[in-house]
Amino acid sequence: MDETRTQVAIIGAGPAGMLLSHLLAAEGVDSVVVETRSEEYVASRIRAGILEQSTVDLLRGSGLAERLEDEGDRHRGIYLQWPEERHHLDFEKLTGRSVWVYGQTEVQKDLVAARKADDQAVFYEIDDTTLDDVETDRPSVTFTDADGAPHRVVADVVAGCDGTFGPSRAAVPEGERSTWEKVYPYSWLGVLADVAPSTDELIYAWHPDGFALHSMRSETVSRLYLQVPNDTPVEEWSDDRIWESLATRLGHGQDGWTLTPGPITEKSVLPMRSFVQTPMRHGRLFLAGDAAHIVPPTGAKGLNLAVSDVGLLAPALVALLQTGDSALADAYSDTALRRVWRCTHFSWWMTTMLHQSGDPFDRQLQLSQLRWVTGSDAGATGLAENYAGLPLGY
Ligand code: FAD
Ligand code: PHB
Repeated sequence: MDETRTQVAIIGAGPAGMLLSHLLAAEGVDSVVVETRSEEYVASRIRAGILEQSTVDLLRGSGLAERLEDEGDRHRGIYLQWPEERHHLDFEKLTGRSVWVYGQTEVQKDLVAARKADDQAVFYEIDDTTLDDVETDRPSVTFTDADGAPHRVVADVVAGCDGTFGPSRAAVPEGERSTWEKVYPYSWLGVLADVAPSTDELIYAWHPDGFALHSMRSETVSRLYLQVPNDTPVEEWSDDRIWESLATRLGHGQDGWTLTPGPITEKSVLPMRSFVQTPMRHGRLFLAGDAAHIVPPTGAKGLNLAVSDVGLLAPALVALLQTGDSALADAYSDTALRRVWRCTHFSWWMTTMLHQSGDPFDRQLQLSQLRWVTGSDAGATGLAENYAGLPLGY
């Protein structure tokens, strides 16, 4: 079997894995990345769209923000609305922090370009990923490479950055791990449309028909979402039905505001779930990003949490591997989980405040909460602080 020796074997070439590899390389730590999908597939997956302040700070600090500075769109805040009312929350005024519209596809492209420029070893289109000996100081990852040949990467540390469906999470023995999960009784229908956004900043809309969100990717591309029942077949939603529902829920015609429809280029249904597995370390295996936790997208936190995990993990591994100092590595799981649980709560809170559950009592509480959040500086600041993102290491 072909064997490669490296310091850190990284499973998953999504944002967590590629950013970790980049941050380690900047400090002289060698890594090998392995990925089941092709480079093109990973780069084109339509996912997150909002970067919080600390994510942008980290990307800037590691030389990854050149295109983000040019093409990203800084937003001061968001709109929150319900029928007849739309309110702007100004995060900059409330907390001095802002958010950026810059798609995960773009972050991924920047990461891949930076790793290529550095001749990073990435094995794409692999199969049969297996983790071995993670409780020893010579853990390894074996797999079948793109040509069908078996391969082993022997390392000092394995980083499980393999998302929701990867094998790393299960490599923590059952008796040593705890999991928490909440499945929500609704999903999002997400569409991408070739039309200029009808708003300058994101609109989160509470509506009796269900939640709607108007987001964007650029001056010419809009990203929109509708709350739909779980297991909704996407075929039930024609383009006309989508635009009509968006117009109703987003308040077309209200105070002169109009929603401009356009050609829909992508359509998919996303289930919503909260999930956390602890601890985020077992022996020489460290978990980061979706491999350890999933949040519903209403708080725009998934990608940002992956970045903040890696922002903590990279210096911890550098200290461990270069000087043998294990303090940060030993603290990694607890430190990362503080922020993970904060974002898990915030995402649950935004989700349950804005989606229809079918319960009339919930509705009254939601509207009361929305009035308070938009009408009180204390309420607005709490949302702003969490949405624009707490500092790394919170
Ligand atoms: P991932 O991006 O999932 O990367 C993990 C990588 O590991 C993948 O490339 C995968 O192919 C690879 N992998 C899996 N198994 C193996 C294996 N056996 N061997 C090797 N490699 C493997 N977040 C938001 O904030 N806003 C959004 O609107 C939003 N929309 C989303 C829509 C969808 C459909 C999904 C799935 C997620 C969405 N998210 C969103 C969440 C956000 O995209 C994730 O939190 C983010 O991608 C996490 O990055 P990651 O690197 O941890 O995981
Ligand atoms: C997106 O643009 O895809 C997006 C924005 C904000 C969210 C979720 C998704 O809360």
